[in-house]
Parts: sequence; C-alpha cells; structure tokens
Amino acid sequence: MDVSDTYTVADLSLADSGGLKVAWARSRMPALAALRVKAEKEQPLAGQRIAGCLHVTKETAVLIETIEAAGGKVSWSGCNPLSTQDDVAAWLASEGYDIHAWYGQNTEEFYQSIDRTLQINPTLTLDDGADLIYRVHSKYPQSAENVIGGTEETTTGVHRLRAMGEAGELLYPVIAVNDASTKWDFDNVHGTGQSTLDGIIRSTSVLLAGKTFIVAGYGHCGRGLANRARGMGANVIVTEVDPIAALKAIMDGYRVMKMDEAVHIGDIFCTATGMKDVIVGRHFDSMKEGAIVCNTGHYDCEINIPDLEARAKKIYTIRENNEAFELKDDRTIHLLARGRLVNLAAAEGHPSEVMDMSFANQFLALCRLAAEGDTYENIVYDISEEQDRELAELKLIAEGISIDSLTSDQLAYFEDYSAGT
Ligand code: ADE
Repeated sequence: MDVSDTYTVADLSLADSGGLKVAWARSRMPALAALRVKAEKEQPLAGQRIAGCLHVTKETAVLIETIEAAGGKVSWSGCNPLSTQDDVAAWLASEGYDIHAWYGQNTEEFYQSIDRTLQINPTLTLDDGADLIYRVHSKYPQSAENVIGGTEETTTGVHRLRAMGEAGELLYPVIAVNDASTKWDFDNVHGTGQSTLDGIIRSTSVLLAGKTFIVAGYGHCGRGLANRARGMGANVIVTEVDPIAALKAIMDGYRVMKMDEAVHIGDIFCTATGMKDVIVGRHFDSMKEGAIVCNTGHYDCEINIPDLEARAKKIYTIRENNEAFELKDDRTIHLLARGRLVNLAAAEGHPSEVMDMSFANQFLALCRLAAEGDTYENIVYDISEEQDRELAELKLIAEGISIDSLTSDQLAYFEDYSAGT
C-alpha cells in the first residue's frame, strides 16, 4: 500500500499505465471535454470542496480532472470494494489528486476511505449508491453543515435518497443524476449491456451462442443486458416481479418465467434488480452442473452467497473472478466476482462513450448546486429537461452528427390543436 497525506492507493508505480488509460478515456469523452473548455474560463466550481464516492475508473479520472479544472477540489473514494482500477488510482495520486481507493478492500477499509474523504469538509458530495451521503447522515451529521447539496449516480442510490427525502431525513438537497434521460437511456442500457457481458466473458471465456441466459430484472439495465446477450446468440429468459416490466420483456421477444422454473434450464444467471435474495438456496439446489451465476446490480445482496457457501464442500478459484463452489451433491456452480457488480469487478465498467454523458450530467449537476443549491429544499431534484436536451445536442455535435429541425410552419402545426383530418 502507498500512503501519503493526500492518497491511499495500492501501488504508485502503476501510475504510468493508469495515465495511458485515462488518456484513452479522455479522447472518447468529447461532451465532458467541451464542458471543461468553458469551465476553465468561468470556474463554476471555484472554492467548492467535493467529497466523491464513485468507482475509480479511467472515466472517473476524467470527471475528477474536469471538476478540478473548473475550480473545485476533490477528495475521492471508490463506491465498491472490488471496482477500483489500481493503475488509475495511482495515476490520480501521482497527479496530486486526493484519492483513497484500492481494489479488494474489506468492509472496514471501504468505510475508512469514505470517512477519510470527509476530512475535506465538503461543500458538495457526489455519490454512486448513496454510501457516502448515508455515512454523513448516520454517523457524521456535523459534516453536512457546510454542504450545499449532493448528486447521486445510480438507480439504487436514488431509490434510497428519495425514501430519505420523503421521510424528511435529508440534511441537504440531492440531484438525481441517474434519472436524466441522457444518463439512464444510455449508461444503464448500453453501458450495462456491454460491460456486463465483458465481465462475464473475461472471467469465464464462455461461449454465449446457444446458452440459456437468465436475466433477473427487466429495468433499463436488464433490458440492455438481455438485448446484448441475445445479440451474441444466447436464448434469453427474463424473470420479473413487476407485471409491466414482464410484459415489456415478452413483447421484446423474451420468455418470461419464475426464477424457480428458470433455474432448471439456465446456463448463465445474471441479476440486475436492485433487490436482495433474488437467487437463494433453493435456486442453487436446482441449478444445472456448471451453472454460472453473477450480478450486475449495485449491491452484492442479490445473490445469497451464504446460502451457496452453506451448500459447498469445497470452494476454489478457477481463474480471476471465477470461483467454483463444489456442492455436497457433487454439482459445481461458478460464482463470478463474489456477487459484486461483474461489469466493474471483472471488467472495466461501462465504456467511456456512455460515461461521457453520465459524467457530463454529474458535472452540470455540481455546477447547478454550486450556483443555486442554497435556495433548494432538502429533497431529491431531477435533472431539468433543458439540461437533458442541451447535453444530447452537445453529444451529437461532438460526434459530428447533425439532425433536422422543425420549420416554423411545422412548429405552428404542432401547436395547432384544430388541425385534424
Ligand atoms: N459505472 C459503470 N461503469 C462505470 C465506469 N466506467 N466508471 C465509473 N462508474 C461506472
């Protein structure tokens, strides 16, 4: 471990390799780059101290450098014990950013790193999963004194924070970055779809064509994953608890059934629900020999690992992020990335091109809070439709794509309710 006043990282000597990856990400994040050019002049985050708790990846490094280029000062930790890219963390440390994160943290180290970032005495917080903000509220409420507001990156975190807001428990306003269309219609769908398969393939090298692939949960993430798995030739089955989501899956062409039925035929299982105990002991009892089980939801409670451990007579690692659980009845089940989100623990997370929009939203939300957060109530706010549209336009321009616009005649037609047949 390499430690100084400003960093706690696994191995500082990895910095050069991290720097090359960050440069690669930067070149694929043109919307954030455009915002940075403007922000360097206007300094919208001047004087702001930002505690961040979000996966330390090459894309996050580009967000961090954009925040500091805009005048802010960060102190950062990862939001999952198994998602930090150690070379990227080393590069951030070597460039002077305040960073406390390494791959393979235990629970105590995870929370110690979050606590360490609070020493910055934040004026803004940035979360992915709400662990930082929950820590402030449950353990260090005095840290909230100078906080103007916070942002939240993911569905699970927004869910937690909306519940806190409705209970009147929030100590400061939060912007739900996740709920922007330019975030979840792209990051959750296309990002999760691709990066989850990437994680599964990196840890197993399994052929997807012809496999029966069970996707638990047909929200944005599950839909993206089902679509990509089908594209690779898998027979996809969806399990759901929500009737509307289940119908959507059926009409998108998937079979839908209960997990209790799917367990008998699945070759690969991936949970994407945000709910605990989606796969439990009785499911393991019925799985086929060699079944592969993983999760792409934020927390590691979707698969009940203690239930699996209780059935095992031997547990050993086949290859990185692929553990074999040899059961008492001699079947073997493979658990990937210890049930942590397989796309970040076993691969590199979502590709830079989608994180570009997610993090442009994060950046704009921080700027909005810095500018006007002190007039907000302590509730969860959405990204404005205006910001969503402007960001989509910015991304199109950055990608060199032009689209049509309505003529004044068409606009008048749109507004004229008397125009019929
Ligand atoms: N969440 C999913 N993919 C990510 C990435 N590449 N960087 C940061 N957070 C992520």
